[in-house]
Amino acid sequence: MSPSEASDLRPEHLAPLLRGGLFRAERYHYYALLESTNRQAAQWAQQGAAEGTVVVAEQQSQGRGRLGRHWSSPAGINLYCSLLLRPRMAARHAAQLTLVAGLALWKTVQAWGIPDCVLKWPNDLLLRGRKAAGILTEMRAEGERPIHVIVGIGVNLNGGPGDLPDFLQGQAIHLAEVLLSPVDRGQFLAALLAQWEDDYTRQQTEGFAALAQEWMVAAALPGRRVHIALAEGSFAGEAVTLDADGCLLVKRADGMLTRVVAGDVTLLGQE
Ligand code: BTN
Repeated sequence: MSPSEASDLRPEHLAPLLRGGLFRAERYHYYALLESTNRQAAQWAQQGAAEGTVVVAEQQSQGRGRLGRHWSSPAGINLYCSLLLRPRMAARHAAQLTLVAGLALWKTVQAWGIPDCVLKWPNDLLLRGRKAAGILTEMRAEGERPIHVIVGIGVNLNGGPGDLPDFLQGQAIHLAEVLLSPVDRGQFLAALLAQWEDDYTRQQTEGFAALAQEWMVAAALPGRRVHIALAEGSFAGEAVTLDADGCLLVKRADGMLTRVVAGDVTLLGQE
């Protein structure tokens, strides 16, 4: 049996693995090929689909990344999935949902036996310094009220360097390259959804502050010196925490606290 047959994402394989809460079997939609699971999930949302709707594809022809980038989505080896959420929160705080998803993903990968993964603010999961997963959050809102939020996640699971396009060589990595064995995608997705539900429920009931410190630990950030590259220049400082908007607060050498809304964060050596 090939790895993809053994780790099937088809509903009949996944349904018994789902625990029946927010992401229950009747809300699971599986496709062999889509342009983009985020796009399909947004269509479901516009048709009134319930919170907890999950869209998964074996392959994406126009997988979307952040900042208009393409997300390489070859068939049968990885995970491409989007969740439809209808959160009770202000639209300006929706970036928190990217962080919640990242935290759930980090915990899932850790539990899978890969302890040396780290989150990279705001939406990447790195393994051995290479990108193993990315998250793309898209929202439709009316004023300050989100109508729906789509959280899309792509995880590099069972491929190898030969499955990456030239521009990603040396930049991306698959979990199986570290584990030296294939990941059962159905089991992985079910574990991720269960963790996601737990962390999302906590965010919705207690607020993001309840998760901020865990996120900082998952990103190896507390007390660490970081280099921040912004469009308007760069600076170094000490990572402090994440605020309610999901922005990173960094203390500069002069003690001034800077709020990083968008930028590239690199960990500097322990000093
Ligand atoms: C990034 O790191 O730039 C975010 C990548 C997000 C990719 C996932 S794959 C499933 C979902 N559908 C998409 O079109 N994009 C996201």
